[in-house]
Amino acid sequence: MCGIVGYIGPKDVVPVLIEGLKKLEYRGYDSAGVAVAGPGCIRLCRVQGKVSALEEALRKSPIQGAYGLGHTRWATHGRPSETNAHPHVDCKGEIVVVHNGIIENYLALKSMLKAEGHVFRTETDTEVIAHLIEKHFRGSLEEAVRAALSTMEGAFAIGVFAVKDPGKIVAAKLGPPLVVGVGDGETIVSSDINAILAHTPRVAFLEDREMVVLDEAGPHFMDFQGKPIDKKIEQIQWNPLMIEKKGFKHFMLKEIFEQPQVIRDTLMGRLSLDQGEVLLDETGLPPAVFRDIRKAVIIACGTSSHAGFVGKYLLESLAGIPADVEYASEYRYRDFILEKDALVIIISQSGETADTLAALRAAKGRAAATLAITNAVSSSIAREAQGVLYTHAGPEIGVAATKTFTAQMTALALVALGIAQAKGAGRVQDRMAVIEELQRLPHKIEQILNRVGPIEELAKQFVAFFHFLYLGRWVNFPIALEGALKLKEISYIHAEAYAGGEMKHGPIALIDEKMPTMAIIPKDRVYEKMLSNIAEIKARSGFIIAVADENDAAIRDHVDVVIPIPPTHPLLTPFLSVVPLQLFAYYIAAKRGADIDQPRNLAKSVTVE
Ligand code: F6R
Repeated sequence: MCGIVGYIGPKDVVPVLIEGLKKLEYRGYDSAGVAVAGPGCIRLCRVQGKVSALEEALRKSPIQGAYGLGHTRWATHGRPSETNAHPHVDCKGEIVVVHNGIIENYLALKSMLKAEGHVFRTETDTEVIAHLIEKHFRGSLEEAVRAALSTMEGAFAIGVFAVKDPGKIVAAKLGPPLVVGVGDGETIVSSDINAILAHTPRVAFLEDREMVVLDEAGPHFMDFQGKPIDKKIEQIQWNPLMIEKKGFKHFMLKEIFEQPQVIRDTLMGRLSLDQGEVLLDETGLPPAVFRDIRKAVIIACGTSSHAGFVGKYLLESLAGIPADVEYASEYRYRDFILEKDALVIIISQSGETADTLAALRAAKGRAAATLAITNAVSSSIAREAQGVLYTHAGPEIGVAATKTFTAQMTALALVALGIAQAKGAGRVQDRMAVIEELQRLPHKIEQILNRVGPIEELAKQFVAFFHFLYLGRWVNFPIALEGALKLKEISYIHAEAYAGGEMKHGPIALIDEKMPTMAIIPKDRVYEKMLSNIAEIKARSGFIIAVADENDAAIRDHVDVVIPIPPTHPLLTPFLSVVPLQLFAYYIAAKRGADIDQPRNLAKSVTVE
């Protein structure tokens, strides 16, 4: 949460910071600000609201400087307001700080600093950092930052500069991500490569307890003790065009439409078709791990946990091993029991979710191995897990995850098939049938995407409803959860998801004509059961929309509206059934005029607990 950007180089600094903040806005968007270094002074502009409001403020009262820092905020301590917006300054306004994360001991530090005479102006935890650096400043900014860091507890990525040690920006990381872009005569520091790629594809990822000093000569890396570090500079393959809307009204819609390609890219190079094999060598885990594990524990949050639930069914059916799915935020605090022969699979689009990272750290060393499934190359989770399987989804800007969800399910299918193959579980021809069908999925998703009109029309009918029920069973129960989450987060309509069989145990009491049901009913092993479940709803005046096989003519007698999907392998229906649900949520939110790519109260990368 929160996005940081800093720039030092020949370009006009304010536009660079603003463009960077726009790319980081998915991380938080309740207030924004920039600070630039003028001659012997700091020039600040901060607003409550989005980066567009900051741009407007800067248009009215422009500021200029040699280098600077920017911030877009997702409030943790202190409500969204101009005063609480970053950057924050010390008592004299000579030291400026931007921060992503939480300083857990800020109250103790604040009262100590207050007792020493420091004057606080905001409700934020961040302001203590500025005062701490002020307290320790003796002429060298990096030394003062190091002294301040030694007293700070919590998680933070910070950027700092000071009037009295000009020509440099200092940044440090313990927890949330920080990336340094190394351009020609210019250096950028940011929470994410998105803000860097317009300037350079050459980046270095800071590790925890590492700092960097940016000056005219470039970046100088060191640890929190000041010991220099020889940092590896990596070349990033994503190009800046991948982060454009390409004619779509919203990033979310563009990303929904990218799903066929995302599946192709995530499968690419990982299937040996003549042998009918899945190749998992690139994960870096020894083949014996996949052969010898007897259990899988999947850990994730939100949408990634829904992909994990689909993965559970795939692992059980294909690899014949038990699989549990755990919410990272719960798992990390439990007295969990982890068998030595378990594979821990960590799923995170961003690779930076604080709870997921903490759960990975707690599990590491206690299981056979940890395997990350993530979309973010060199993210904290990718670096800390023993093995990693990247989802090749490209950058996802819409806050509501869509294409990365599909990519995660694709990666999980590969893992399930790879484990099955290593163990010799099941029949080769059954695995081959899944592999062949995985490759047909992109085309089948394209068929769904070619007929969005009726889904958009349907969305119009339900725009004014307040409640929705989502039902699915077996592999489509997680899709009911995911469909309901999409509707909630972007349209703010209350939606509940249940496994079809659970309805009669309580939730059916909710049903009336004002609570429509979205039911996922492909022709699979629970088809008849789902028919009974929806009959119970129909008998209570419930309106039913069904996502069903396009060749299932009979379903029309049981429901009010059908959204057809092409038939596929029963284990792979989630890849298709999720697409109409994403579109339905999107079009309802669009009709309601909601802020689709940046829904209220949310942030894309949840780097705080
Ligand atoms: C919902 C959504 C979130 C994320 C969750 C985990 O659309 O995107 O529920 O799935 O915050 O994020 P990652 O996958 O980055 O760990």
